[in-house]
Amino acid sequence: ELRREAEELRSTIERHDHLYYVLDQPEVSDAEYDAWMVRLRQLEQQHPSLLRADSPTQRVGGAPQEGFRKAEHASPMLSLDNAFSQDELREFDRRVRERAALEAADYVGELKLDGISMAVRFQDGRMRQALTRGDGRTGEDITENARTIRSLPLAFRGLPRFPAGLGGETGMRSEIEVRGEIVMNRRAFERLNRDRLDGDLPPFANPRNAAAGSLRLLDPRITASRRLEFFAYALLREGQPVMSRHWDTLETLAELGFKVNPHRTRGRGIESMIEFASIWLEKRDTLPYEIDGLVVKVDSANLRSELGSTARAPRWAIAYKLAAQQAETVVEGIDVQVGRTGAVTPRARLRPVAVGGVTVSRATLHNEDEIQRLGLQIGDHVLIERSGDVIPKVIRVVQEAADRRPFVMPDSCPVCATRLVREEGEAIRRCVNADCPARLKESILHFASRRAMNIDGLGQALVDQLVAKGLIASVSGLYALTAETLQALDRMGEKSALNLLAQVDASRSRSLARLIFALGIRFVGERTAQVLAAQYPSIDSLRAASADELQQIHDVGPRVAQAVRDFFGEPNNQTLLRQLREAGLAFEQHPDGPEPPSGPGPLSGQTLVLTGTLPSLSRHEAARLIEQAGGKVSASLSKKTAYVLVGEKAGSKLEKARKLGIPVIGEPEL
Ligand code: IVH
Repeated sequence: ELRREAEELRSTIERHDHLYYVLDQPEVSDAEYDAWMVRLRQLEQQHPSLLRADSPTQRVGGAPQEGFRKAEHASPMLSLDNAFSQDELREFDRRVRERAALEAADYVGELKLDGISMAVRFQDGRMRQALTRGDGRTGEDITENARTIRSLPLAFRGLPRFPAGLGGETGMRSEIEVRGEIVMNRRAFERLNRDRLDGDLPPFANPRNAAAGSLRLLDPRITASRRLEFFAYALLREGQPVMSRHWDTLETLAELGFKVNPHRTRGRGIESMIEFASIWLEKRDTLPYEIDGLVVKVDSANLRSELGSTARAPRWAIAYKLAAQQAETVVEGIDVQVGRTGAVTPRARLRPVAVGGVTVSRATLHNEDEIQRLGLQIGDHVLIERSGDVIPKVIRVVQEAADRRPFVMPDSCPVCATRLVREEGEAIRRCVNADCPARLKESILHFASRRAMNIDGLGQALVDQLVAKGLIASVSGLYALTAETLQALDRMGEKSALNLLAQVDASRSRSLARLIFALGIRFVGERTAQVLAAQYPSIDSLRAASADELQQIHDVGPRVAQAVRDFFGEPNNQTLLRQLREAGLAFEQHPDGPEPPSGPGPLSGQTLVLTGTLPSLSRHEAARLIEQAGGKVSASLSKKTAYVLVGEKAGSKLEKARKLGIPVIGEPEL
């Protein structure tokens, strides 16, 4: 009976994963879905014989890996030849017809997704291995990371109702390979970069790099959080298409439960493909992910094998590349900006130029090494590129100006004149003056920002004035502002002054997590701040934590731990904290605990039992952590207990847990 229940749960979950991640048509609430997952996990934990490798509970497997093994592809993963104009597409069509002695060829048009290609091997319809393209012959085994991609089915849907085209019985036994593209959609990309910027980490340049970086992570749990998607476009057995028409391949892949890009077309002759291409050229920005062109493929498998391939690319397909969103302009100057952490970064001031419908007048240059690498000087003609909503970047120098002037990175802060420091191994120079007005402005803006203390109405123009007029010398000065001072400022009437004061006042009781984030500790972004606040009930307990203790927290590495220590060790920050406390800010978790988690947590619906003395957490702290993750703590053990959390001198409960087969964990696993 339990086996049947587990099977049913698995197929229900798979069906809803498919509805949600593949078809974008969820039918149930998150809570319902989570309840099924919880029950399935419980069944599998209590009866390990029910566990299957392709269970939806196994997407995020065990511990981080050591590295990636290399593995050979069953058949080479080729590249595509490019066409850059309609005429080059017609040229491709002419070659196809000539070689095959045909009047007209049937084609399939698809989007060319700008991601990372992957080959996934299935044995008896179950996923076995996933490889990156690598050099085309050998790829890297990224099976564990690929499993976390929820739109990739771990087993063909509808097994054992296997499509006849896959060869019935023999098809089941043989190995089938599905190939496709992994992408990160724009929303996931923006979210990731926002988190990275919060944490003072360099953002990814584009979704493609972000996807590649996410697949190369050794910890699949982090990959899982990156929300990658997989679109399938090939179904092979022994390197050959299983279906005799590519159009049927795409339909079959969809039936097997894969996500197949809906924007595709089939037609006779190249003109219908050219039309399809022009439509998507126009509309590419409306897609939720980036494309770098279109792919035109010969539909018939027979014709494909007749045409064959070169060592590099098949003769039966071609990529129609969109003109990149690039433009040429002149670098009129290079400014340096001082950020909240004192990082001083150069930025190119450009002669305004239209790129993909947007006027661009600035481009990032990252750091001085980048300027060196580009060989860029002021006055040069450069090629710039815009991708998505990221700040445009300089690709290369097109023409050196006759009167070019080298850019010299200043030795001292352009705002406060303090000598800049470039640490060993760092590409960036920093202004280390904690009172630097530029840093102060950025700190105030960060402190007041929506995701930090959320002080509405405190924008750039106002902060500029407050700092320039010496009305505020530190973030804590916000709490000393009066209506009279504010009203004396430009564009500030009585009403807006009072509104702002009310906002400042309301910020005194923001949550501990927001306050920790607002302090602008290096590497501590919004999410890390939430993790810290969940662990430490007050600023004082966080201040008292040692680096070792901090590192015990899941999600907190040595770098964050050290940054927290450094922050509290700095005398200026101690003064700031004292002033904030005096200003009446809440330095402690609200009496009713941290803000409840916004969605279901990893322990939703699970009950844990504690026994013994934990190495660092008090029972109270452990219980709070569990509750925050959505779980419950109970004093008595039963078959329903999901885990027993065990410390030193554990008593009879440990024995009982072993007898009942309940998983036993320690503080690190918690
Ligand atoms: S078919 C024999 N279809 O483009 C090569 N590739 O530049 C078969 N790509 O490595 C590839 N979208 O990673 C194909 N709809 C699509 C694609 C696509 C993106 C990538 C793929 C390939 C690269 C070639």
